[in-house]
Amino acid sequence: MTTISIIGAGNMARAIGTRAAKHGHTVELMSRDAARSQALADQIGHGATTSPYGTRPAGDIVVVAVLFAGALDVVTDYGDALAGKVLVDITNPFNADASGLVTSAGDSVADRIRAAAPADAHVVKAFNTIFGGAIADDKVVDAFLAGDNTEAKALVAAFVDSLGLRPRDAGGLEMAHALEWGGLLLVGVARQGAGFDLALRAEEI
Ligand SMILES: NC(=O)c1ccc[n+]([C@@H]2O[C@H](COP(=O)([O-])OP(=O)(O)OC[C@H]3O[C@@H](n4cnc5c(N)ncnc54)[C@H](OP(=O)(O)O)[C@@H]3O)[C@@H](O)[C@H]2O)c1
Repeated sequence: MTTISIIGAGNMARAIGTRAAKHGHTVELMSRDAARSQALADQIGHGATTSPYGTRPAGDIVVVAVLFAGALDVVTDYGDALAGKVLVDITNPFNADASGLVTSAGDSVADRIRAAAPADAHVVKAFNTIFGGAIADDKVVDAFLAGDNTEAKALVAAFVDSLGLRPRDAGGLEMAHALEWGGLLLVGVARQGAGFDLALRAEEI
């Protein structure tokens, strides 16, 4: 059992928090809106806690569960409070009509977080190729990971595995942009009629 800190109190915070709590982790929620994170902690149960936004997270793994445009605000607002943490970037930086990305190769949200975060923090992209519903419903699906630090990625892979998801190491942080495209691909498939209970999958054949 590990303490998992989640910044944000929206759909993905609820999905990841619910699944983490169900699988024996202690969930700490931190949101700009303290009442919202308390309500989510109450909903998640299993001893989920809240802490003030901007204070040092309790968990070694910190899931940044905010909209992509807010991810850098979070890193700035927390500053040195994120020193030594493993930051999990789950964002999908879609343009306004989700027909493309606002990021580019070498300039993914994960790259931007790494550039803004304390030097000894590590960034792992994960969870962005799974819709929240599939996470919350305890579906066994692939969870793609990208990150440069071996230990950090192993820690996130172990967390993912503990949730009953299949960790799929996609490579270094340069692959984070590919995962962002993967998120867009997922939305395209969903919009064409497959629905939003989906996850990207790499299938052994
Ligand atoms: N929903 C999915 O199925 C799904 C799947 C894969 C990836 N994602 C990605 O997961 C992330 C979260 O999505 P979501 O569906 O959970 O969104 P959401 O329900 O809209 O929740 C967004 C959260 O981000 C916080 N936030 C927004 N701007 C912020 C800022 N500048 N500083 C601090 N906090 C900020 C909001 O806090 P306030 O309440 O204070 O505004 C809220 O708690 C997004 O990047 C999305 O692309 C979502």
